Order: sequence, then C-alpha cells, then structure tokens
Amino acid sequence: MSMVSQLPPYSGVMTLHAATTPKNGAVYTRRWVAETILDLVGYTVDAPLEEWRIVEPAAGDGSFLVPMLDRLIARARNRNISLRSLVDAVCAWDIDPGNAATCRQIVVDALLKAGADQDVSSLIAGTWIQCGDYLLAEPEPADVVVGNPPYIRWDDLGDQRAALYRATCRTIRGRGDIYLGFWEKALESLRPGGRAGFICADRWMRNSYGADLRAMVGNGFDVEAVWTMHDVDAFHEKVMAYPAITVIGRATGRAPVVVSTTSEFGEAESRQAARFTLGSAESGSGEGWRGHRLDHWYTGRGLWPSAAPDTLALLDSLADLPTLEESGCRIGIGLASGCDARFVVDDVPEVELDRLLPMTMGSDLNGTLHWGGHYLVNPWGPDGRLVDLDAYPLLRKWLDVPEVRNRFVSRKQPQNWFRTIDKVIPGLTSREKLLIADMRPRLSPYLETGEAYPHHNVYWITSDRWDLEVLGGLLLSDIASAFVEAYCVRMAGGTLRLQAQYLRTIRVPLSDTISGGDANALRESFRSRDREKASRVAHDLYGVS
Ligand SMILES: C[S@@+](CC[C@H](N)C(=O)[O-])C[C@H]1O[C@@H](n2cnc3c(N)ncnc32)[C@H](O)[C@@H]1O
Repeated sequence: MSMVSQLPPYSGVMTLHAATTPKNGAVYTRRWVAETILDLVGYTVDAPLEEWRIVEPAAGDGSFLVPMLDRLIARARNRNISLRSLVDAVCAWDIDPGNAATCRQIVVDALLKAGADQDVSSLIAGTWIQCGDYLLAEPEPADVVVGNPPYIRWDDLGDQRAALYRATCRTIRGRGDIYLGFWEKALESLRPGGRAGFICADRWMRNSYGADLRAMVGNGFDVEAVWTMHDVDAFHEKVMAYPAITVIGRATGRAPVVVSTTSEFGEAESRQAARFTLGSAESGSGEGWRGHRLDHWYTGRGLWPSAAPDTLALLDSLADLPTLEESGCRIGIGLASGCDARFVVDDVPEVELDRLLPMTMGSDLNGTLHWGGHYLVNPWGPDGRLVDLDAYPLLRKWLDVPEVRNRFVSRKQPQNWFRTIDKVIPGLTSREKLLIADMRPRLSPYLETGEAYPHHNVYWITSDRWDLEVLGGLLLSDIASAFVEAYCVRMAGGTLRLQAQYLRTIRVPLSDTISGGDANALRESFRSRDREKASRVAHDLYGVS
C-alpha cells in the first residue's frame, strides 16, 4: 500500500479563508479573472495551443477549465486541427472526486458541442481530468500552469498529510501554507519559456515562510507580473486572503510589471491593465489601477518589496547603508503570556507585590505613550528563571487555574506550568527603549524610559550607540516609512503589520555620522512628533532630494 493511500480521508476543499463561507467551503474564481490570467500567460488563440500542455492543478468546478477549453477548441476550429489530436494538450487536477466528475462532464460537453463523438469526448475527458493530489503527483512538463491553488491552514491538514507535503515540497517550511507547494510544483514543471499564473495569496513574498520559494524563483525564473488584488471582487465568495495575480516564467526574460488595484477594479479595467502589462510602456493607469514596469526583480531569499518604481529605486540606492541592527540596535517583540486574562491585569489581584511588573500595551501608544495601568503577573525572577512558587503562595493561588494549566506551553512543560510563553528578558524593563505598536496605519515609535515591560504586539528597539530620541526622529521620517511599507504585509483597510522582520529592513546612517545640529533637529521632531521636519532632516542625511 502506498503512503498516500494510507492517509486519513481529507476532502481537500478547504481553500482560501472565506469570510462568509464555512471553513471547508471552496472559493472559486470569477470568469473574468481566469480569462485575465490566461491572457497574461499567453494562452490565446493565436498561440500554438495544440502544441502546448496547459495544467490546472486545482480545478474545482472549472473556473479556469471552461475558458481554457473555449480557447483551445476555437484554435482547433480555426486551424482545422482534429480534436482527437489534442489528447495531451490539457491536464486538470482536483483532489475532490465530485469536482473531478464535474470537470470531466465540462470537457465532454465542450467536445461534443465542438463536434467530437461521444467516445472521443469521453476518452479525452478521462485523460485530461485527474482526480488526485497535485502535490504528490509526478510532475509532467507543462508550457502553462494556471489556477487558484487551495490555501489551507496548516492545522487543517492533519499530521500525516502535513508531513508528506513537507517531505515532497522543499519550499513548504514550518507551518507555511500549501499554496507554496503548488507554486513549487508548477514552476518545476515548466518547460523553458513556459509560464505559471495564479491568483493566490501574496503573503509569501513578504513573509519568512516564503524565503525558499523566493530563492527558487530567483534562480532561473522571471517574475513577469504581480497584480495586488486585495480589495477586488475576484472570487464568488468574500475572502480575506490578500490575493494577487502573479505570473512567473521560466527564463522568459520579460521585465516585471507591478499593478496595484482598488475595489473599483473589475473586468473592463483588467483588460486595460492586461494590455499595459503585455505592452512596453513604463507606467499605466486607469480607474481602480496603477501599473509600473520595473527594470529588475529581486533575487535570493530576502523579502520582495512592493512599491512604486521611484520608491524602489530610492530603496535600492540606500542598500549600502547599515540596517538598524548593523547600526547597533537590538529589535525584539514584547511578551506573549498564553493567557492574558490571568497574566496581564489592570485590576491588581492578590499576589505578592514584587510579582507585579508594569506592562506597556499597544493601546498605550496612541499619539503619546500613556501607561494604561496594566501589570504582568510575573513568574520570572531577575535572573531570568522562574521563581520558586513555595516562596510565592499568592502567586501560585492566582495562577493555578485551568486557563493557565491548560495552555499548550503548560502541558508541554508540566514542571514549569506557570511560565508565560515568552520569558521576561532580564534588564529590558529598566532600559530606555523605543516602542512600536503592530497593526497601525503608520510607523510610530515612542520612547519608554525604562519603567515597564512591553506586551506582545509591541516591538522594542534598544541601543548602546544611538540616542533613542534621535533614532526615533529618523524612524518618524518618510524614508523609514518607505522601507517598512515596501516590505511589510498590509492588512485589509491599509493597516501595516509592523513586525520585527520588517523593522529590520530599515537602513539608517551610522549614528556617529550625524552632526549635532541634525541630531537636535531629529530629537525635536521626535518630541513634537513632527513627521515633516523629521523627513526634511532625514532627506539631507540620506542624501535624497
Ligand atoms: C480555491 S479552489 C480553486 C478552484 C478553481 N481553480 C477556481 O479557481 O475556481 C481549490 C481547489 O483545489 C482542490 N484541491 C485541494 N487540495 C488539492 C490538492 N492537493 N491537489 C489537487 N487539488 C486540490 C479543491 O478541491 C478545490 O477544488
């Protein structure tokens, strides 16, 4: 028995995180989006479709398959090509038997309508439509791969399947989503000059779990188009998946085009944007979209920035400056407890007073830093080790409740059941630090003078080399924002994920190259939160006009 057949049943229809559909609901692509992707990958009637092999790795109810067949059959009709000869021209997969049956019927109906007889139609449908797991199948060479791969939460996969995918797909790291594997298999299967075009979450471009896939793309592939479609009505269900249309070719040598869209973007606009993408103009725009042609894409495992070309050029020109960490900063995240209801309190419980550590919450950082009166019920001693509960009976009593005991971290380390997920870093409380709250529309640093410990979702920066108010001024500037905004993941509504990995992309001049006058001006702009002044000084310092 093969490993695959021993897997527990799995419907495979868990897809994009749907906001309004049940967890297992498949989310299907609108016809115009599928047509657009087919245009972008060059699957059009004037191309030698009869000589190509097009693959749809996750066909669902045929959103891509139907327009694929329309184009292929039209091509065959125009050129008097026999339908029977197209037996290798298409391959569509779905793991769900119901979907595979639907797709076979779509093929049979299309071929019968085009004049094929029942036998040929059934034979071709049986050859073209595969019911199975695309990620575990032997990849067959393809000229074009298109689709909307499933976006399945790692936890929904089951241990065995997760292990199998990790073993088969080298780009699926940690708890990364399986759409990475669809990219990997699709790209691997491409013949030279071939193209893969997916509508798919774009998180992998700016997340650590996408590093191996980015490195793979940088090695022999060309990113041809990235259309960010976060607010576009691209699916039959409402989804929260940050989708982008992305086209990647194998050694196609085409210059990359980035297109940003708004919720106004629809079928008519997509035709304009496709004309621009396939043309040669440097930039283009229309209602609900703006596009730019770049002169290069990024190689290696680093995050892929996303910004207008002049901003990308600016960031490139600053690439030799040190990163924040290289300039002498430490960057970290505040403490996650695993049970804030018990560990993070604003109503002081009856515990030994030296177990209460003032804590800065994200909500304290709002225009100014104003401590909201929260404390960590702190199980950690000044030496970085857990305290002895025999010496702290009130602490034991407060924490010894099922919500604390049942946390994953407690079950994993029963002898340390009262620990918080993260340790309290010795000495961090009493240090001056810049604090930055995650999930804000802008990068906003605040100075905390060494009295409280940061909560999770608050990032901290400490430094022995920087005057933190001067650095704070630099971080208020539009140049620091340009770094973060180009690299960070943007949530629906424009909120930025201001995580440490994105703060680490910021490049700064070395602190000892900043004159006394500029340092004063930055300090003042930080104190008065004057972003314009901070930006003016920063432009001088960075040598940017
Ligand atoms: C997001 S839907 C996309 C369907 C269609 N391509 C579209 O865009 O409307 C993903 C499809 O992938 C299928 N699927 C899930 N895991 C799969 C796997 N490992 N191999 C092949 N198909 C899979 C699901 O059954 C579902 O039909």
